[in-house]
Amino acid sequence: MQTTITSSPEEAAAILNSGGVVAFPTETVYGLGASICHPQAISQIFKAKGRPGDNPLIVHIYNIEQLAAVADEINGDAKRLIEHFFPGPLTLVLKKNPRVPDTVTAGLQTVGIRCPLNPVAREFLRLCDCPVAAPSANLSGLPSATSWEAVYEDLDGKIDCVLRGTPSAIGLESTIVDCSGSQPLLLRAGAITLEQLQAIVPAIATEAPTDKEAPPKSPGLKYPHYAPKAAIVLCHAHEKMVIEPSSAYIGLSEPPQGVSLLKLCNSLEEYGRELFSFFRHCDANGVHIIYCELPSDEGLGRAIRDRLMRAAEKK
Ligand code: TXA
Ligand code: MG
Repeated sequence: MQTTITSSPEEAAAILNSGGVVAFPTETVYGLGASICHPQAISQIFKAKGRPGDNPLIVHIYNIEQLAAVADEINGDAKRLIEHFFPGPLTLVLKKNPRVPDTVTAGLQTVGIRCPLNPVAREFLRLCDCPVAAPSANLSGLPSATSWEAVYEDLDGKIDCVLRGTPSAIGLESTIVDCSGSQPLLLRAGAITLEQLQAIVPAIATEAPTDKEAPPKSPGLKYPHYAPKAAIVLCHAHEKMVIEPSSAYIGLSEPPQGVSLLKLCNSLEEYGRELFSFFRHCDANGVHIIYCELPSDEGLGRAIRDRLMRAAEKK
């Protein structure tokens, strides 16, 4: 299939409205979108990414009015979070409206919903006839794409269109909060921090009550994630290490001596923004090991730690 590259939200939305699969920029990472009104296009997302069919997709809406078309039962906690953080890098899991196809939610009775803030994403979504289901626009298991070039590298020839935008301002996927049960639960850390969420809804928990029989609350969490080809070695500030050849370092503190590629970040924001593109850069340069400084889990540090620890797991 020929992949069209365009900077025109009109052209990209027209392709999506006629049943195509379109990658588009958001402030978190690039998304791979299909209209929830085109079941064939939804299947094409799973095929293009090599994504397991039991891993549900997030539905992207243009404005709060579209919420009612995708969610049922929006409780008080969800309303407060929407009021404070929509549009933005937050996904809420809510009871789904029957109009959302089961292929989008992988058969779950809940649906993840996000309203992005990036202006190109907003213009694109405004021109789409239906809400847009979209996972991150990368091959399944690889680091998320934070630039249109990274999308192209993974998905050229597999999707209909790439809507070009600037590199993602945040660089980490959205915070996910499950508001479908009696207690709101943080499923994935992101740029909206736990501290910010708890300032609005103090009851938000970080761990589900343990029940071994229950299915995982976020099906995607059981799959390997965010992993570059290089091995990830987690380290702490100023840790003494024997550095292997062909290795790289990313972190906030002075790097160890002897690494061949280096990304020294001035803030957690920069660390989050650069992480996935650095992973890809390392792979393109044949790096074997990436040493990554593990930040503390305060603020944005929680999301960075989460991605690093899962990239290091590489099941
Ligand atoms: O920032 C983001 O969230 C990006 C942009 C494109 O919006 N999207 C993204 O999608 O990261 P994806 O598919 O790569 O990650 C979504 C995660 C998966 O782990 C999935 O299992 C989980 O959200 N998820 C989706 N729907 C869910 C639901 N109804 N209940 C629990 N988890 C859900
Ligand atoms: Mg993803």
